[in-house]
Amino acid sequence: MASFPSAARLLLLVAAALVLSSVSAAAGAGGSPPLAKGLSFEFYRARCPQAEAIVFAFLKDAIRKDVGLAAALLRIHFHDCFVQGCDGSVLLDRTNGVDSEKVPVLLSFLAKIGLNADDLVALSGAHTLGIAHCGSFEERLFPKDDPTMDKFFAGHLKLTCPRLKVDNFTANDIRTPDVFDNKFYVDLLNRQGLFTSDQDLHTDAKTKPMVTRFAVDQAAFFDQFVKSMVKMGQINVLTGNQGQIRTDCSVPNAARSAGDELPWSVVETAVETLVL
Ligand code: HEM
Repeated sequence: MASFPSAARLLLLVAAALVLSSVSAAAGAGGSPPLAKGLSFEFYRARCPQAEAIVFAFLKDAIRKDVGLAAALLRIHFHDCFVQGCDGSVLLDRTNGVDSEKVPVLLSFLAKIGLNADDLVALSGAHTLGIAHCGSFEERLFPKDDPTMDKFFAGHLKLTCPRLKVDNFTANDIRTPDVFDNKFYVDLLNRQGLFTSDQDLHTDAKTKPMVTRFAVDQAAFFDQFVKSMVKMGQINVLTGNQGQIRTDCSVPNAARSAGDELPWSVVETAVETLVL
């Protein structure tokens, strides 16, 4: 990962530590996921052998103090990778995103960046953690309940979001909100997925078998999640002399000379045009 922007490298390391800390026990089989040319799982072995242990210990402590951090970091890694590739551009000021909720749309979008249906099902499993605001799912409750949603679950959500535009939030995974496990898929089997994009995974014939499999086999979910996270973490990744190491994470470095402008300006247009 030589000359890989520091923010992106950190995000990848953080994501790797998160994934490993969550799933190391169950995801032993199958060897390391494939890596793009120029990347290495051993980058820090010689330069800073303690790097991963330091990040791991720091995160473990931080997440013990605030479990919401695990979800926030997972999501920020996803957002970084889906906008212009995994280059830390999510840390640049003024980024934003829109959530899409149609599996075929998502699948065709993902295909363009090298991810497939298995990746979509596994990565959506990150919704085993974290929270969602009423505005992210209220259209499934009002003016009337989404028929694909379990009635008991809809009633439960209305306790938190009694009408449109209430500024409140609820857990993504009703069963085990703070545990990284496969219960998110059990939610989907019971029509208790919060977002249409999640529930659609169980409706769509292409993705349904994997949802069912993950619901009954947590090790299979962990194994695929590791692979898909590493895959996602390499979308349009910059290696060698590409990119820049920002002096301030939130702004691109000033161009050193005419013609030396780096492609960070595309971030804003990418955010506006890409569907997240
Ligand atoms: C496939 C398309 C996806 C859609 C449409 C989607 C949509 C959403 C929405 C609407 C929220 C709630 C935001 C809010 O109301 O505050 C959310 C939260 C979250 N998403 Fe996704 N998401 C997707 C994929 C992913 C992926 C790939 C990951 C990570 C691998 C991820 C991780 C998370 C996490 C961890 C949260 C909780 C954040 C927190 O509690 O701070 N999502 N997502």
